[in-house]
Amino acid sequence: MTIEWRPDDRQFHLHNGMLSMVLRVYEDGTLGGLHFGAPLPTGRSYRHLGPDTFDGFDGRVGDPIPFALPTSGLGDYRVPALVAIGADGSGTISVRYVSHTIAAGKPSLAPLPSTYCETDDEADTLTILLVDDLSGLEVDVRFTLFTDRPVVIRSTTMRATSRELTLRTAMSLSLDLPDADWVMVHLSGTWAREAHVVERSLQPGRVALSSQRGASGAQHNPFLALRRASTDEAAGEAIGCSLVYSGNFLAEAEVDPFGTTRIRIGIEPDTFAWRLAPGESFTTPEAIVAWTDQGLGGLSHAFHDLYRARLTRGAWRDRPRPILLNSWEGTYFDFTADRLVDMARASRDLGVELFVLDDGWFGHRDADDSSLGDWVADRRKLPDGLDGLARRVTELGLGFGLWIEPEMVSPDSDLFRAHPDWAVGTPGRGRTESRQQLVLDMGRPEVVDHLAEAVGAILASAPVSYVKWDMNRNITEPYGLDLPPDRQGEFFHRYILGVYELYRRLTTRFPDILFESCASGGGRFDPGMLAFAPQAWTSDDTDAIERLAIQWGTSLAYPPSAMAAHVSAVPNHQTGRVTPLETRAAVAFFGVFGYELDPTTLDESTRAEIRDQIAFYRRHRTVLQYGRLHRLASPFTDGRRHVAWMSVAADRSTAVVGVYAILNRPSPETHRIRLRGIDPHVEYRVSGWPERSDDPVFRPNLGGRVGADLMANGLTLDLARHDAARLGDYWSRLFVLEAV
Ligand code: GLA
Repeated sequence: MTIEWRPDDRQFHLHNGMLSMVLRVYEDGTLGGLHFGAPLPTGRSYRHLGPDTFDGFDGRVGDPIPFALPTSGLGDYRVPALVAIGADGSGTISVRYVSHTIAAGKPSLAPLPSTYCETDDEADTLTILLVDDLSGLEVDVRFTLFTDRPVVIRSTTMRATSRELTLRTAMSLSLDLPDADWVMVHLSGTWAREAHVVERSLQPGRVALSSQRGASGAQHNPFLALRRASTDEAAGEAIGCSLVYSGNFLAEAEVDPFGTTRIRIGIEPDTFAWRLAPGESFTTPEAIVAWTDQGLGGLSHAFHDLYRARLTRGAWRDRPRPILLNSWEGTYFDFTADRLVDMARASRDLGVELFVLDDGWFGHRDADDSSLGDWVADRRKLPDGLDGLARRVTELGLGFGLWIEPEMVSPDSDLFRAHPDWAVGTPGRGRTESRQQLVLDMGRPEVVDHLAEAVGAILASAPVSYVKWDMNRNITEPYGLDLPPDRQGEFFHRYILGVYELYRRLTTRFPDILFESCASGGGRFDPGMLAFAPQAWTSDDTDAIERLAIQWGTSLAYPPSAMAAHVSAVPNHQTGRVTPLETRAAVAFFGVFGYELDPTTLDESTRAEIRDQIAFYRRHRTVLQYGRLHRLASPFTDGRRHVAWMSVAADRSTAVVGVYAILNRPSPETHRIRLRGIDPHVEYRVSGWPERSDDPVFRPNLGGRVGADLMANGLTLDLARHDAARLGDYWSRLFVLEAV
């Protein structure tokens, strides 16, 4: 058992040798949080880490008492985890300990996505029952600890028993820390520049990241980390929290006047209210909180391992993901079946394994102004229907993949003409269009039923082995036509539950299809989606240099097996930048690899280069998709000329290192790229890709090196002035390490 209960101290200690979390039931029955972080010995009291006794705020209003489930109205003026308005209109809630259970395993949160155990001995779950006698609110606070992962998983269920209640704030996690000497790290951006790493030292006051868009959004990822000032990628203390949710969220850090820190993460409260009639309950999404002393790299590994092995599920969880070619940037809306088959044939000849038909195949969609909702093949473009095309593609020996955007409807569509009321809008206010489309109210069961039927029918009609599920606009004028006025606060959460329900039905009906989520790129790249779709389109931005930043940032929380990354044509369609083909591939290799261009237009030398790229990726696919990623040199360091990262096989017998130049500089400084995660005692043969004779980057680095030397001294980047001038900007080199 990883959970110790000491009745005399009324103390819980969650411990697994990797971290400890210590909770205490105070004298007044409130739940305290005494410690989260480094592993502590069991069999001891840690009461000295909190107040001597705590019997309510009498005489000490505003004191920084550490709580695990702070409520409002009682004298803790920091941000609350739980606010409920009782039948009397009061927002004061006082939930007190009643009992607890400790059980092996981890319960499912369905219909919410959640991490899971394969066998009950993998984890233990502590459930603490707290009750507010006056309002009749009962709360189950759940903590799960896996035996071998440095993470605690939190969720909460609220039940109204005797009287009606309205939940106003229902955080998934609230964590009090005794100091504020932290640098906050988050992933922020917008379309085409998602997941940029932003850092700031905590100061008194609140810093909040949130979404009110109906999706987690490209603006902030539902992920927040704290690191010590001295923490780097390889060492030092860090805490990370992440929310298994795809809708509106809040992640916040507050420093109080006494220099303590509270972090909280959960459903965004300004766009949320949930009414509970007696007998009804509400369960929050789950939050993951990780602790490590192994730097941001160690923090990422905790999330990568958990998400890869115990959040994603299904046939594709552990399988090598196919190398695909997506038609979008090659054709946009302008194609015929014959042109697609030509592209598929040319892809097949390059070594591609899956051909994906993107937007434009349904209704009469020649631009982004029509047909969303009409999931029927456009016979003008595909005279033999989807099945006819899919068969021609699969006969070439390729898988066939398809783009859909099920949550949307175009005003110019049969679906909208038949069901105008299914589109989200507030009566009397009109509906704001975005990308000339509207959003279907996924909170309505009949909408989900219809989509399960319509999308299910199209997927069943042809040999489809991959689906890219897009979502290209956010919600405005939120309103649920089927909800009474006093339940409108439920709209956004009901929307996302509807999305999950549709995912559940389609992934259940089509268990062998590989689903990839997308929202104009990384606009819904979150753990909630990963529970259904094991990979996501990381960004619409395929520029290799921009992708260094986007993939670096995304990798803070998400594993390479989740990050789709493609090589596209130059000048790049998003930035206009021209980068070498080998650099585009060398960046995209560190994810789920593919192409997004028209392969029929390539000359023979380009085709040969791509064949070599695909052969390389196939040879190293396991380490690149499922290896341990180490970030070595950050694109977010001011003045950085080189970026580097590496992936190491689980048994450390192989590793692939990527080194990328951004802008060249005359009289270049010398650089050492020190490697990590390999075996210090093993002799590695270092080879370079793509092969080149007498290359100034490869020259000092290839051949036999012992792991300890590669980690202590690294690869050398000592470019003579004339070599640097010859290499120019945007070059890249890969190094392959193989144990001899
Ligand atoms: C979004 C996606 C793109 C592409 C287009 C199609 O922008 O992110 O990859 O599928 O939609 O309309």
